[in-house]
Amino acid sequence: MLVSGIEILSKANKEGYGVGAFNFVDFEMLNAIFVAANEKNSPIFVQASEGAIKYMGIEIAVALVQTMAKKYPHIPVALHLDHGTSFESCKKAVDAGFTSVMIDASHHPFDENLEETSKVVKMAHERGVSVEAELGRLMGIEDNISVDEKDAVLVNPAEAEKFVRESKVDYLAPAIGTSHGAFKFKGEPRLDFERLKKVKELTKIPLVLHGASAIPDYVRASFTQSGGDIGASKGVPFSFLQEAVKGGINKVNTDTDLRIAFIAEVRKVANEDKSQFDLRKFFTPAMKAMSHVIAERMDILGSSNKI
Ligand code: G3H
Ligand code: 13P
Ligand code: ZN
Repeated sequence: MLVSGIEILSKANKEGYGVGAFNFVDFEMLNAIFVAANEKNSPIFVQASEGAIKYMGIEIAVALVQTMAKKYPHIPVALHLDHGTSFESCKKAVDAGFTSVMIDASHHPFDENLEETSKVVKMAHERGVSVEAELGRLMGIEDNISVDEKDAVLVNPAEAEKFVRESKVDYLAPAIGTSHGAFKFKGEPRLDFERLKKVKELTKIPLVLHGASAIPDYVRASFTQSGGDIGASKGVPFSFLQEAVKGGINKVNTDTDLRIAFIAEVRKVANEDKSQFDLRKFFTPAMKAMSHVIAERMDILGSSNKI
């Protein structure tokens, strides 16, 4: 059933588990997410970036999710706008039927971010739609980074408290050292869990981890074996994801892992059967591999059997 984001995350926050927020750009990704949620009895966020919306068309994206939600009525699902860049973009998503939106004004000064977020919250809440915002910059932190440099990049817990209180945002993405894509850490993976815990203590609302792909060894290996090359890739280890959930993360954004798992299978079929051109022969194993990654993530985050 299609529900608001906060309905899923209030329960997750109270019971202390994380819910995967999986990006989709087409039917195949969406189907893989629902198949895994059905197998694991897990609530889900399905999220579309502005680029994904442009690719699918907003009406198609919403209709696809509404249809899947009808097919699997027992699965609580929130349809979320990932990294909305403006009030207008968030309003378009709300008008089209999204049940959760992110306004990402984190690159603006604090006061502008607060003002833009508050505006979106007012518009969305009148329509029963939940809102996510972000504080700090999404980038990896090196071992030798100074305290001042860290403070300049990562979330400031006191600011987070003020931001949440004044904007009335439903959930917050605090920058704690993750970044998007396949190359998250130069040296050993490191996240600022102490900072995360402070933000949680001060705000108490559901928190969101962006850039949470793990790039498990078996996913990297199947990509490499199929002829792909993501040599120095590094993701967030499973143990870190679990520690983040313990520290107050309830929504865990994952896209890169799904893309890598899917494309590895497509490439494999292309290599093994050079005369193949039936799309289904490529996409069926690709969806299966993607579903496996998603189902495994549900177990790791603790959302399995939480319906
Ligand atoms: O956070 C970004 C997501 O992975 C979506 O990326 O803008 O390439 O669709 P995209
Ligand atoms: P990854 O690139 O780590 O999958 O992060 C996705 C994300 O944060 C989407 O908002
Ligand atoms: Zn993100």
